[in-house]
Amino acid sequence: MKESILDAVGSPLVRVTSPEGATVAAKVESFNPGGSAKDRPAREMVAAAERAGEISPGDRLVEPTSGNTGIGLAVVAAARGYDLTIVMPASKSPERRQLLKAYGAEVELVDGKMTDARERADALAAETGAVQLGQFENPANVEAHYRTTGPEILEQVEGREIDAFVAAVGTGGTITGTGKRLLEEFPEMEVVAVEPEENPVLSTGEAGDDDYQGMGPGFVSDLTDTDLLDSVETVALEDAEAEARRLAREEGILVGQSSGAASVAARRVAERLAQPELNCPEVPEELGELVASDGGVSDGYDDCPLVVTVFPDSGERYLSTGMFE
Ligand SMILES: Cc1ncc(COP(=O)(O)O)c(C=O)c1O
Repeated sequence: MKESILDAVGSPLVRVTSPEGATVAAKVESFNPGGSAKDRPAREMVAAAERAGEISPGDRLVEPTSGNTGIGLAVVAAARGYDLTIVMPASKSPERRQLLKAYGAEVELVDGKMTDARERADALAAETGAVQLGQFENPANVEAHYRTTGPEILEQVEGREIDAFVAAVGTGGTITGTGKRLLEEFPEMEVVAVEPEENPVLSTGEAGDDDYQGMGPGFVSDLTDTDLLDSVETVALEDAEAEARRLAREEGILVGQSSGAASVAARRVAERLAQPELNCPEVPEELGELVASDGGVSDGYDDCPLVVTVFPDSGERYLSTGMFE
């Protein structure tokens, strides 16, 4: 039994359809209590601020977020007894707003982009004394992934070498924290960032306009350690959404836009690293055998190139956008 819902943070690593001669496995982060990878930094940022004596239960927190960090913070705020105001662009999906309210958070919508939401949150913090945790600058965001996502992956691959880690970039917390931890075990591992084709700021230095929720903030945050990156893959929103539909319909994995993009990019990397001559074992065909196996990522696959990626949130968060119709 867990002492608190906050102890239930964690997710499975699941093999997805992979090219011949390679394995692609994804952390399915919708398994977290608030339904996304952002429960990790939310919990860590609040814990770090409590440790530093900056906040205590009863205080008000304010955060600009495109949604998932807000929902993660709303879970933590509810469980720990904080008041919370979330500032988000009005363009983000209504499911996000409704979820925030369900957890008891206050929501303020702003016209424009994430940069506008950040300005408004700064103003609110200055006016009201509410504490801003600052997911784009807060080292606890990276630390959360270094301390949880990375170690979980290491345990879940059960000794198998990881050849590449592929992750969508928003604040950069996931790719920097997880990448750093995995590189300590596998120094030769490639780290591949994923960003919107329409807003390729990491690959070109030029920001653009995109309709992704959560990835591609239009700037490179200070948290993103670009020295860790071996390459950047860009994925068009249309292709990411088509891949999310395919994952739902063909694999039973319901994920959002950035997960679709991560999946497309991870497959590209796996195709490049694949060694078809190795004859990697097949996934068991019998359901009984499949369920009895311990995940299938490690058994008998020692030499097979392994690409690990992260699916940050669930497709349920995008139903109103029509992306699954
Ligand atoms: C749906 C989604 N995908 C990807 C990301 C990017 O993750 P990170 O901020 O750790 O770079 C986020 C971050 O908010 C997100 O909400």
